[in-house]
Amino acid sequence: MTAMTEPVLTVDGLSVRIAGLHILQGVSFTVAPTGVTVLLGRNGVGKTTTLRAVVGLTPRNGEVRGTIRMGAQSLLARPTYRLVRGGLGYVPEDRCVFAGLTVAENLRLAERRGITPAYDQVFALFPELERRARQRAGSLSGGQQQMLAIGRVLLNDNRLLLVDEPTKGLAPKVVTEVTEVLERVAESVPVLLVEQNLAVVRRLAKDAVVLAAGQVAWTGDAHELLLETALTRSLLGVGTGESHRGPEQAVAPGKDGH
Ligand SMILES: Nc1ncnc2c1ncn2[C@@H]1O[C@H](COP(=O)(O)OP(=O)(O)O)[C@@H](O)[C@H]1O
Ligand SMILES: [Mg+2]
Repeated sequence: MTAMTEPVLTVDGLSVRIAGLHILQGVSFTVAPTGVTVLLGRNGVGKTTTLRAVVGLTPRNGEVRGTIRMGAQSLLARPTYRLVRGGLGYVPEDRCVFAGLTVAENLRLAERRGITPAYDQVFALFPELERRARQRAGSLSGGQQQMLAIGRVLLNDNRLLLVDEPTKGLAPKVVTEVTEVLERVAESVPVLLVEQNLAVVRRLAKDAVVLAAGQVAWTGDAHELLLETALTRSLLGVGTGESHRGPEQAVAPGKDGH
């Protein structure tokens, strides 16, 4: 069997136009069947647009071309609910928890029919969610809402997780907590992660895909990319004052001593 080396996701020649703007222009990359693949690039380069195209959430005034496959299965033209049912988990950039509902109600809404929800696993990863089950989601901190957004997706079996900027706007201590959780999650499910915090990238990522000007500008080993200061500066704007976060900020040292 080649199943452990075949990519879990293959994106080939993906073009997305929204309202006449050609946002992605032939993006091609693969996601390995294990570990974290990180999708990088400056603000506005099309990272969220890429994830949304994969999960079938391009806006109505958008147009998608190209190929997106999970294993052998073509994802394009399938409705989002079918993709989710087929094991594609999506944690959106803005978290999208239902502020007026409790934590327990948010979780219950995420249960997929026909699957026994893995509450044990979710509460083991996020004990806070169990303690706060009856609290309204809108009264949680940003970090707790992020935990809810991730926990919700983990109630179900997933073949691939798409996670968009999970540490954005969080305090350093919470960034570390979210990073540790993602590290544990990635031991059992492959993750395509959009992340601007390079310390988090260093800790989690195995492979990197960098977008620039609507196309893939670099792809390869994430740690090699991070060693190339000139490259990260030109592709990500790190160190030029354009990045909204510095490379060493906001996460505890990884276990490899970096
Ligand atoms: N619904 C939309 N309508 C019009 N333009 C959009 C829409 N969504 C994204 N864009 C534009 O597409 C570009 C890429 O956006 P996005 O994928 O959110 O970038 P990133 O996640 O890399 O910061 C930006 O210029 C953004 O303004
Ligand atoms: Mg984005």
